[in-house]
Amino acid sequence: MPEVSRHPDQVDGVTAFRKQFPIFDEKVYLSSCSQGALARPVEAGVQEFLESWHRYGNPWESWVGRMEELRAEFASLINAQPDEVAVTFSVSSALNSLASALRYDVRPRVVTSDFDFPTVGHIWLAQQRRGADVVFAQAQGDRLPLTAFEETVDGRTALLSTTHVCYKNGFKSNVSALAELAHERGALLLIDAYQSMGTQPMDVKALDLDILVTGSLKYLLGSPGVAFMYMRKDLIERFEPSDSGWFGQENVFAYDLHHLRYAGSARRFETGSPPVPSVYATLPALQLIAGAGLDTIEAHVQALASRLIEGARARGLALLTPEEPALRGPLVMVRCTDAVRLVDALARDGILCSTRDGALRVSLHYYNTGDDVDAVLAALDRHPELVLHAAD
Ligand SMILES: Cc1ncc(COP(=O)(O)O)c(C=O)c1O
Repeated sequence: MPEVSRHPDQVDGVTAFRKQFPIFDEKVYLSSCSQGALARPVEAGVQEFLESWHRYGNPWESWVGRMEELRAEFASLINAQPDEVAVTFSVSSALNSLASALRYDVRPRVVTSDFDFPTVGHIWLAQQRRGADVVFAQAQGDRLPLTAFEETVDGRTALLSTTHVCYKNGFKSNVSALAELAHERGALLLIDAYQSMGTQPMDVKALDLDILVTGSLKYLLGSPGVAFMYMRKDLIERFEPSDSGWFGQENVFAYDLHHLRYAGSARRFETGSPPVPSVYATLPALQLIAGAGLDTIEAHVQALASRLIEGARARGLALLTPEEPALRGPLVMVRCTDAVRLVDALARDGILCSTRDGALRVSLHYYNTGDDVDAVLAALDRHPELVLHAAD
């Protein structure tokens, strides 16, 4: 089995990190793909918001200031400038704001894929009534090969909008190859990094990304209510969203009802009053991630995923996730005969996982350990009738 956290400093790092998440006192938590576990500093952030509300009534200046701190913290995590980042309520609201600014007269095509999260399909399909020609790059089994995009991204394509890691099988796309393809055909590349952000480095400049969206509540360990959209600086002023509002204006507090003056920054994709409680929760979450370091987190998560895959292979279990390290992220999925019953059985044993597409989802983060992985494998041994074997 691959060793996890071989270096003593790293073991200490994981132990110290894990201690900040009380859920591990009682449970084996392996469901960060749905919601990150709650850390003490995140809880303290929410408490600080409540205190400020109690004490000052309406301290909007400091609340908006906290939002700017959050913007800067996220920007530094992805090697962007703060004015290239919009803080939105959800990935969906970010995408809708962007979609409302796209024009489909010259380049009508938007390419997404079979592996994208449903909201992405819904948002682009809704653009058909504004003239979009929406095409889905087709998966081949548990993979989404580059050829699927080569066949669909053409000279009339405005945007290639696809996921980094697939929520329903853990497949990871090669972002650099997608950027090269999109740019060669004159299209922009948008990556939905919701299922990877927080578990590996994400340098938007090095990857030559045009747009990146992600939310805070999964591997970024924040709360629902906050998401982010990065847009490369020189693109921003091309877009004038019709899905707009006062927080997207150059001067939010100008109260100028009669004029529309978009912010010169990515803030133009924001709309109404910010989700302040979520902002207070999410800033300490991002600081936890930055403190641990995305390189360190990635090494740990990859080692855990390899340990799980090797354990599953040794038992002859059928996996839904590609086994090659380059093609997977923090999510490993095991095929089941009855995934709902299996998730319930694991929960009774204190192991929290989830299910999609009839398979077991085990998602790994920096707070997980080799013992957590071994606990799942041992639990699968106890329920052989609920898992599918490669030979089945
Ligand atoms: C890859 C991916 N994209 C988008 C979403 C949805 O984001 P939101 O609810 O913030 O719109 C999810 C939620 O699970 C997701 O996993």
